[in-house]
Amino acid sequence: MKILAIETSCDDTAIAILEDNIVLSSTIYSQIKEHKLTGGVVPEIASRLHSDKIFSLITYTLNDSNLELSQIDAIAVTGGPGLIGTLQVGLIVAKTLSMLLNIPYYKINHLEGHIYSPFISKEREKIPKKALFLIVSGGHTIIGFKDGYNIKYLGETRDDAIGETYDKVAKILNLGYPGGPIIDKKLQNVNHKNYYLLPKVNLSGYDFSYSGIKTWVFNQSIKENIDIEKLLYSFQNSAIDQLIKKIYQATKEYDIKNLIICGGVSANSYLRKKINYHFSKKIEIFIPKLLYTGDNAAMIGYTYYVKNKILKPSKYDEDSLPNWKVGING
Ligand code: KG4
Ligand code: ZN
Repeated sequence: MKILAIETSCDDTAIAILEDNIVLSSTIYSQIKEHKLTGGVVPEIASRLHSDKIFSLITYTLNDSNLELSQIDAIAVTGGPGLIGTLQVGLIVAKTLSMLLNIPYYKINHLEGHIYSPFISKEREKIPKKALFLIVSGGHTIIGFKDGYNIKYLGETRDDAIGETYDKVAKILNLGYPGGPIIDKKLQNVNHKNYYLLPKVNLSGYDFSYSGIKTWVFNQSIKENIDIEKLLYSFQNSAIDQLIKKIYQATKEYDIKNLIICGGVSANSYLRKKINYHFSKKIEIFIPKLLYTGDNAAMIGYTYYVKNKILKPSKYDEDSLPNWKVGING
């Protein structure tokens, strides 16, 4: 089965072609360059850029796979969550191609795509039935359980997402956009023994909070003679520590054998190091290849492949779902 996958939930126009679970080609037009000017994503600009790029990207990806459009059997498209305008671009293209080619199209949940991203290109049998998952991205910080195809949330951020916080901290300190990879790179090989202690986030249960950390960075940044590297190190330490604590709490409360870490922030080298250090002895850890940590269409096509036996084709009068929670509405 040849799958054309489309992802336009935010600022990456992404197309992939899969033959069953094998990715033949996965391409991304990243809008970072355009959004750098404003230090963040402007939804209207993002939608226009998706419209501009999507057809040439589909042509390029088909050529790269040595396939014609007429050879595609199914279309998988991100249905949500995401920005309404950008989602609509992908959805309209998916519906149009589906009608013209007389093939089904399927709306796929973007977050579910992230959850399956560590397994792309591997054998399907290797996906564990039960796993604790942590999605850490620009728009989400969610911890929960995957049990078969069912997804259940344990907790999520009450305010900013962790990736968004990295981006805002970088903006406060004029370091560039997006902040996550920039801060990660700056802190490679840095180890401050005497880092600042940030205000503790003491939320019982499994929710996260990042707005206090961001405010703390802002308040420090307006002081004189601040040590930027030490400030960043302290910020990262506190941001990642919150994730580690919640995973640890879940391992105490539940019998966890498998852990999935995914989303853009799962590229972070400090997070990867910490996760390995704390959990790898007792738990099997699944993290995507760097290529599939951020938004991509391969994870959308792959999720369709994994779930194709239980999914029904989407209808032409269905809309995108900007606030789609995984496990709800399919
Ligand atoms: O998953 P993603 O591409 O988009 C969303 O679905 O949100 O995640 C993008 C986020 C951005 O906030 C970016 O700064 C962050 O992931 N990110 C990182 C790293 N690489 C990307 N954060 C920390 N360290 C990184 N190496
Ligand atoms: Zn994402």
